[in-house]
Amino acid sequence: MGSSLSDGLETSAVSETSAATADDTLLDFRDVDVFYGEFHALQNVSYRIGRGEIVSLLGGNACGKSTTMKSILRLVKTRAGSITFDGRDITRASTAEVVRLGIASVPEARRVFPEMTVEENLLVGAHTRSGRARSRAVLADLDAQYSLFPRLFERRTQQAGTLSGGEQQMLAFGRALMSRPQLICMDEPTMGLAPIIVDQVLESIQRINRELGVAVFIVEQSAELALQVAHRGYVLTNGVVAMQGSAEELLADPRIREAYLGAAVAA
Ligand SMILES: Nc1ncnc2c1ncn2[C@@H]1O[C@H](COP(=O)(O)OP(=O)(O)OP(=O)(O)O)[C@@H](O)[C@H]1O
Ligand SMILES: [Mg+2]
Repeated sequence: MGSSLSDGLETSAVSETSAATADDTLLDFRDVDVFYGEFHALQNVSYRIGRGEIVSLLGGNACGKSTTMKSILRLVKTRAGSITFDGRDITRASTAEVVRLGIASVPEARRVFPEMTVEENLLVGAHTRSGRARSRAVLADLDAQYSLFPRLFERRTQQAGTLSGGEQQMLAFGRALMSRPQLICMDEPTMGLAPIIVDQVLESIQRINRELGVAVFIVEQSAELALQVAHRGYVLTNGVVAMQGSAEELLADPRIREAYLGAAVAA
């Protein structure tokens, strides 16, 4: 409904009207502006993520994808607009607060703690939870991650830095799940992985979503990959949301190729 979406660029698209007011909205990112100095990195960006939904934000290099994720995690300041999570205004919250409220992240390039073991990395993910570090609930969740990712159990005493790329991605997912999130934000989760590992990662994303009911926000350059698992998507071009729609609508739209490669959509 924002004017930035009304310039003839949107697909046949999903209506934001009913969605924005429905109870099933988990994250409502509305009319957000972010500046780095003079540079206007996000311009009136709006999108929403429903409970239990997988939503992808697509776009080429330097269009503002990571900035969008960092805004949710309160790692960058927003100049205008609002971010609401589970009915609460988190626009001015701290990172620790949003994690406690139920938002977890898998950052760009995974970033596990290389010197720590697999299990120590997983326990770090539970650090915002109250109580003892190895409480019964935390240990139960550790077991849950091991049954979701048996490879992590096999490797639990291994230094995380020596895991393969795919295993590190599983560890980053497991660590994010240890905070018991309602929403996991993932920054380019398939980047740099071999095709067979990419398939495993995509399958893990679907399992996290289906079996645990966790909503997933995937920031991704590859529309083909992200839209295999996402229910809906948004396309960001130079800091502006240029298109949005269901995964099927976006995959069928010839403009998507131009858009996610970073070329101007409005030709
Ligand atoms: N801390 C910062 N200070 C200044 N400029 C920044 C900062 N962080 C990001 N930028 C700039 O903002 C723009 C968007 O960056 P962002 O990291 O959000 O892009 P991206 O879409 O994630 O790109 P990529 O696909 O390459 O990861 C880029 O031009 C980048 O150089
Ligand atoms: Mg990025």
